Amino acid sequence: MFKSQLKALSLIVFSSLVVSQSYSADDSKKLEVSESAFKCISALAASGRFFVDNILGNLDATLAVANSNSGGNYPPGSLLTLVPDEAMIKHQQGWNPATNDWEFFLLDLSAEGASISARGGAEVASPSGSCFGCHQLARPEWDLVCGVDHGCAPIAFNLEQIRAAQAMDPRCTNEN
Ligand code: HEC
Repeated sequence: MFKSQLKALSLIVFSSLVVSQSYSADDSKKLEVSESAFKCISALAASGRFFVDNILGNLDATLAVANSNSGGNYPPGSLLTLVPDEAMIKHQQGWNPATNDWEFFLLDLSAEGASISARGGAEVASPSGSCFGCHQLARPEWDLVCGVDHGCAPIAFNLEQIRAAQAMDPRCTNEN
């Protein structure tokens, strides 16, 4: 009797440890992100409507997921951007399970480059609302990437407007 109660208790203690662990950000899994990581959009690789890079140099693995028809988990170092002043970067597994280890960035851009005006997890918001609030609606196999048919509510911009914003990236003015 006592033994089985003890067993039940230790099971509860153990599972609550697991639960609390899965909601805390683990900074040992955080990648170093410098402002130079945010390059002119035309220096990145195109995938459909958005652009990708990998700050750890693992671009092929990032592109493989971005171009997959069935989704998948983006590898650490993946950098994704649709409009030049917003980006998301994937940290090492376990950094922040609540956001699938994605960090959201809002950037101030100029011909000199990017400076980070906001960064973080679920708390980061663009003028049109919380990044995570929209992106979490993507079905699980899409790893928070909305695309056009992954379950997110659509944004207010059509493809033509997105292409125009991409073409106006001020960081690209120094390039040929
Ligand atoms: C109102 C909802 C909404 C908000 C707020 C939002 N997004 Fe998105 N985001 C979308 C949708 C929908 C798409 C796909 C749009 C398309 O391809 O036409 C998208 C596309 C993207 C993409 C390209 C990959 C993908 O998911 O398709 C990136 C990167 C991105 N957003 C980052 C951000 C960041 C960073 C923020 C906050 C600073 C943010 N978004 C805020 C809905 C949102």
